[in-house]
Amino acid sequence: MPVASAAYGLTFRQDYFGDPAAWAALVALLHDTFRIDVSIQDRFGGPDPTSMPFAYFDENGIGVANFSAFSMPIMIDGRLVTAAGFQSGAVRPEWRGRGLYRDLMRRAFNWCDARGFELGLLLTDKPALYEPYGFKNVPQRQFSGPPPVAARPEGSSRTLSLDNPGDVAVVKRLLRERTPVSPIFAVAAQTEMFLLNSYFDPGIRLSYLDQPEVVVAWKSREANCFQLLDIVGRTLSPLSVILAALDLRPDRIEVCFPPDRLDWQGKPEPFASQTSLMVRGAAADRLARPVMLSPMAEF
Ligand SMILES: CC(C)(COP(=O)(O)OP(=O)(O)OC[C@H]1O[C@@H](n2cnc3c(N)ncnc32)[C@H](O)[C@@H]1OP(=O)(O)O)[C@@H](O)C(=O)NCCC(=O)NCCS
Repeated sequence: MPVASAAYGLTFRQDYFGDPAAWAALVALLHDTFRIDVSIQDRFGGPDPTSMPFAYFDENGIGVANFSAFSMPIMIDGRLVTAAGFQSGAVRPEWRGRGLYRDLMRRAFNWCDARGFELGLLLTDKPALYEPYGFKNVPQRQFSGPPPVAARPEGSSRTLSLDNPGDVAVVKRLLRERTPVSPIFAVAAQTEMFLLNSYFDPGIRLSYLDQPEVVVAWKSREANCFQLLDIVGRTLSPLSVILAALDLRPDRIEVCFPPDRLDWQGKPEPFASQTSLMVRGAAADRLARPVMLSPMAEF
């Protein structure tokens, strides 16, 4: 049932990112709701061009409700799957409980279904909100264990900074060229969330390795633990080669994606998180093995 937006004096709009005032209204809505500033994306080339936002605006152009879909192709069991991520779901407190979000969710899910996306994904702390639309929880597993046998260092590495436009260009190029980090479950193409997540979390280190050319996203955790978040490049290196290039000798490894391309095996363990990964669609049943969405693709 469509919302009686005329009765509320609201205007429905979709695909409105070309309008700077409407984009600014979404930035304000997300800032007021989640205390995050997504306008930082303007520095990296703007919002994801595949984004399809659905929203209500009041008569002053204030964004009162939004829900967005975006394209995020995923590799599942060796096959590229067309997938849509859903994000930026928010309704201003004074407009809640009137069915605005229900209306926007239906519009977004119908839009994706009409385009034949095989998978829908979202991360949420309110799973009950999405269950009526066929979303199911996927337990996430990180992979942990002792480090691999040390390798001889080859090539050099350096730390990248997103404050340096040249470094941003390197990251964006390798994200465009990347090989999915796992054939079992991995994002095949997505740039904006990688940059945004790196920017928002100062604990994330981005290291550039030149042989082979990759960007490694990683964290240093307590008790000399190396947490590997993502590897971006055409050719992926074994974990031992990455550690040698970074000149690191950790006692423990945690990998935040299926590690089958790393020449290293870890034990799947529950990944502690405030949010649940939920999926719907024809490809959802193919997620039979332990999986984790790289934190660099979180949205
Ligand atoms: C969650 C939120 C978007 C709901 O917006 P809303 O306009 O009040 O929602 P609606 O009135 O359209 O309700 C839609 C449905 O969701 C249900 N719902 C609302 N809030 C919910 C919650 N916190 N948990 C579970 N279900 C909820 C409603 O009961 C309704 O169910 P129905 O369709 O069976 O009647 C809004 O409360 C909000 O912006 N919260 C803060 C940001 C947030 O949590 N966003 C979601 C991120 S995943």
